[in-house]
Amino acid sequence: MMYKPQEHILVIFGGSGDLTRRKLIPALLALSGQDLLPDQFAVLGVGRTPYTDASYREMLAGHLQGGKDFLHSVFYLSMDPGKKEDYGILKTRLSEIAAARQTGINHIFYLATPPELYTSIPAFLADAGLTSREDGSWRRFILEKPFGTDYRSARDLNETLLRCLNEDQIYRIDHYLGKETVQNLLVTRFSNGIFEPLWNRNYVHHVQITSSERIGIETRGGYYDQAGALRDMLQNHLLQILGLIAMEPPTVISSDAIRNEILKVFQSFRPITGKAIKRQVIRGQYVGSRVQGETFKGYREEQDVPGDSRTETFVAMKMYIDNWRWGGIPFYIRTGKRLPTRVTEVVVHFKPTPHTLFCKWDQGVDNGNQLVIRIQPDEGILIQFGVKVQGAGFKVQDVKMDFHYKDLIDNKLPEAYQRLLLDCMQGDSTLFSRKDTVEAAWKFVDPILSAWDNDPSIPLHEYPVGTWGPDAAEQMIEGDVFTWRYPCRNRSDEGEYCAL
Ligand SMILES: NC(=O)c1ccc[n+]([C@@H]2O[C@H](COP(=O)([O-])OP(=O)(O)OC[C@H]3O[C@@H](n4cnc5c(N)ncnc54)[C@H](OP(=O)(O)O)[C@@H]3O)[C@@H](O)[C@H]2O)c1
Repeated sequence: MMYKPQEHILVIFGGSGDLTRRKLIPALLALSGQDLLPDQFAVLGVGRTPYTDASYREMLAGHLQGGKDFLHSVFYLSMDPGKKEDYGILKTRLSEIAAARQTGINHIFYLATPPELYTSIPAFLADAGLTSREDGSWRRFILEKPFGTDYRSARDLNETLLRCLNEDQIYRIDHYLGKETVQNLLVTRFSNGIFEPLWNRNYVHHVQITSSERIGIETRGGYYDQAGALRDMLQNHLLQILGLIAMEPPTVISSDAIRNEILKVFQSFRPITGKAIKRQVIRGQYVGSRVQGETFKGYREEQDVPGDSRTETFVAMKMYIDNWRWGGIPFYIRTGKRLPTRVTEVVVHFKPTPHTLFCKWDQGVDNGNQLVIRIQPDEGILIQFGVKVQGAGFKVQDVKMDFHYKDLIDNKLPEAYQRLLLDCMQGDSTLFSRKDTVEAAWKFVDPILSAWDNDPSIPLHEYPVGTWGPDAAEQMIEGDVFTWRYPCRNRSDEGEYCAL
């Protein structure tokens, strides 16, 4: 809802970091430009780097277009968030800013630090008396992923956080949920009478979710090699998208009603264990290749990656949701780096007609009726269906009705962080991950992670840069009728890949 939040101070731990300057401050500036920040508002960046208010503003200004007036509301405190004794000066500084800016005692604490600090910062804030809520005031905490590295660590993190906070104070960011087109999944499904009646096992043949990146790991080798594609993308962002596609209609649009339905989907995932892991989960790693005259490094040659790394840069999974709506319908999810293009999309493949009356015009693969929801880039929705080929006979060709968000008059889609920061300021946690869904998602992927670590017979397939991953993943969708959708294949049946 577009109303101004109550007055408060936003404290960003990790204020000197990459996320703050690249995403958070620009998002706040955009909100300020739309007059969506409170009149009494301040940002306090916190870090060990010895900035002053002035030098901090100067550093941020170098990454912004404009924003001079906004930066007057931004302050900096040099302290070590890992040292309990430094929290006294934080408390004093907050009181000074609150007095000068009339911001009251509402605070958001944004933890944009390495995850090792996620438990100590709330504990030290609690010791300093900065987490308790008095007189109707609020204290909220925004956490960046990763929320643990497996089920056990996620549960431990939650338990530790809940020793000093209540769940309703915790806002776990999944920036995919801040994307306009991800939210549009809810609107597409639940505001149109034409889709929902077909949205079940009777009419849907299977569902695909693809999230591909053209880039490799760039300078994030140290982090990525500990994570891999399953932890970095699938366990969180892609399962959340799956939750929105597969959930039952919530009774109302409220944070807990929606998140309860997502949790039920997660609880209905058929576990993938034992021999099924080899069959249903394909992992891959890109190898050095030449693409259109250019040479690309393999993953193991990347900076900060061990030469014998077994971390997956690609994963494709076939899974089932064992409930009334989706029983027996496969969901295919794939994500990877150094693939032919950057795209995130959901493809709902409908079942063919019960009897074939007409021949295909081009004798090609019959991809049938598809609803494609493009999440990024070129956000929009595409429906594919068959029409008669002009002229004699009754041959059928596929055509596409394609809606692009960019065709709307007011087409500037807000950045995910704008939406999520504003939601937290307004106390709306709908688009944030709840404790139980995070743990349920880890519980689902844990057996796969542990089999990969412990069973050397599970292959790590190689794939050349610029392809859609290993052949084993290509063959994952059974039957000779359907294939993965290739978002950037040329119209020719040869299927040229996009240039890298
Ligand atoms: N960057 C992104 O696009 C992105 C995307 C998704 C999630 N995230 C997550 O968001 C968080 C922040 O990301 P980032 O890229 O901004 O991280 P970053 O630049 O590596 O770190 C942020 C800040 O944390 C402080 N810090 C680092 N190590 C510390 C330590 N041992 N003790 C105390 N402070 C320490 C540093 O500030 P001082 O040295 O000044 O203390 C640093 O500026 C991470 O958890 C990351 O996983 C980031």
